[in-house]
Amino acid sequence: MKPQAAPLIVRTALREAFAQLRAAGVPSHTLAAELLLLHVLGCNRTWIYSHPEEELSALDAECYFALVRRRAAGEPTQHLTGKQEFWGLEFEVTQDVLIPRPETEHVIEVALDRLALRELRAGRPQKTDGAGLQIADIGTGSGCIAIALATELPAAGFVATDISSSALPVARRNAMRINVAGRIHFLECNLLDGVSVVADECDKSSPQSPSTSDSSLVTRHSPNLFDLIASNPPYIGRREAATLMREVREHEPEIALYGGEKGHEFYASLIAQAAEHLKPGGILVLELGHNSLPAVQPLLDASTWTKVSVTNDLAEIPRVLATERL
Ligand SMILES: C[S@@+](CC[C@H](N)C(=O)[O-])C[C@H]1O[C@@H](n2cnc3c(N)ncnc32)[C@H](O)[C@@H]1O
Repeated sequence: MKPQAAPLIVRTALREAFAQLRAAGVPSHTLAAELLLLHVLGCNRTWIYSHPEEELSALDAECYFALVRRRAAGEPTQHLTGKQEFWGLEFEVTQDVLIPRPETEHVIEVALDRLALRELRAGRPQKTDGAGLQIADIGTGSGCIAIALATELPAAGFVATDISSSALPVARRNAMRINVAGRIHFLECNLLDGVSVVADECDKSSPQSPSTSDSSLVTRHSPNLFDLIASNPPYIGRREAATLMREVREHEPEIALYGGEKGHEFYASLIAQAAEHLKPGGILVLELGHNSLPAVQPLLDASTWTKVSVTNDLAEIPRVLATERL
């Protein structure tokens, strides 16, 4: 008689997955093995470490090791679990959007700090709920920047644009799940090109007052619409593609990664459009690539921009450029 295989318990499953992922050279292999097991079992981390002897069902074991094999072959953990945490919120991610990165949280921090400083300078309470503020997120992807800001500024209105028609449904679903969809208008367009289109449409459809759904979107006849524009544009150079991790190069959308041959090509038109679409005193917050600062900072002409600041990320890389429209 064939000997019965011992049932697979949590501890053994994790050890086996650690070994497979380590052998495949997967970065942070321990975390990846844990996240995949949490995903399959639908439990939290405390549970797996307090139940090391718990048996996995045959189906769970099969599902788990199928995911471990896909991770070992290079698929990002977030594509396998379908989610990533950002700013303490859970975001759905698919192959159509960039996986939100921790360094992008600096964009949120800088944006909120700059708005608070502006309130302070105007003699208003530093903590604002965003009432009356119009904010744009260019290249929204999963929606993480607009949505995180919307949770912090519960009275502000938002426009979030993306040129990718397949990214926007993911962003919309995230906004709905996080209960901010009513305040974010998602637009498929190049940079902010679609914003003036919407303004025109508003003007045509309702000459006296914009429709309710668009009333937070545009100020009629005002070319300077926004109090804050934030963006994490594509900023990797195509010439750097070979240096990217395979998880990024082979699985994340090219349109979200590459800004051109050098990488910083996007910023000139982004800054020019921001100058047209910000109110005087409006704030621009841009995420930078690891080597973008020397090419981007000189684009901030002193006749248009003031109060320029650079914020480093935890690795001391200049990561966020912020400035104010004169
Ligand atoms: C680096 S990703 C950032 C995504 C998201 N904001 C984040 O921080 O995770 C850049 C995003 O810009 C979008 N994009 C690329 N070219 C664009 C363009 N010309 N106009 C608007 N969005 C663009 C991409 O589709 C992608 O979603």
